[in-house]
Amino acid sequence: MMRWARESLKLNGFANVAHRVVRSDIRAFLERLAARDVWDLVVVDPPTFSNTKGVADDWDVQRDHGELLRRLAPHIAPDGIVFFNTNFRRFKLDKAAHGGYRVRDITRQSIPEDFRNQRIYKCWQLVRLASC
Ligand SMILES: C[S@@+](CC[C@H](N)C(=O)[O-])C[C@H]1O[C@@H](n2cnc3c(N)ncnc32)[C@H](O)[C@@H]1O
Repeated sequence: MMRWARESLKLNGFANVAHRVVRSDIRAFLERLAARDVWDLVVVDPPTFSNTKGVADDWDVQRDHGELLRRLAPHIAPDGIVFFNTNFRRFKLDKAAHGGYRVRDITRQSIPEDFRNQRIYKCWQLVRLASC
């Protein structure tokens, strides 16, 4: 997977640009970030559930996404964007997601009109509020 990611960067012309390929539990990754680690754009595409080998806590998208988005917020530049999606059918976006972000459900715009299953997933655009 890591080799695949590096190869994709290379094939897309980013071989000479500073890109880090990191394999980590998301919670450990967020804990290790420094204040200077800030992004303009982040795509969060988590599994519905996972219990990855070597990771102490399992992941449940309904239970854990609010905490993830809250911890991520200080690392998003003002007006920076987080795209968050899930294919968990009964998913409800946590109120915590609204803390520090302007939240917009973009599910409808992100699924092609002719795609057979219009309920395939749900997707949000979260724009980091400049005032936070
Ligand atoms: C829905 S897939 C994302 C697929 C990816 N967007 C792509 O296009 O290849 C969810 C990903 O989350 C990873 N994952 C599962 N548990 C994780 C955890 N605790 N921390 C970080 N990543 C995790 C899985 O290995 C899987 O690659």
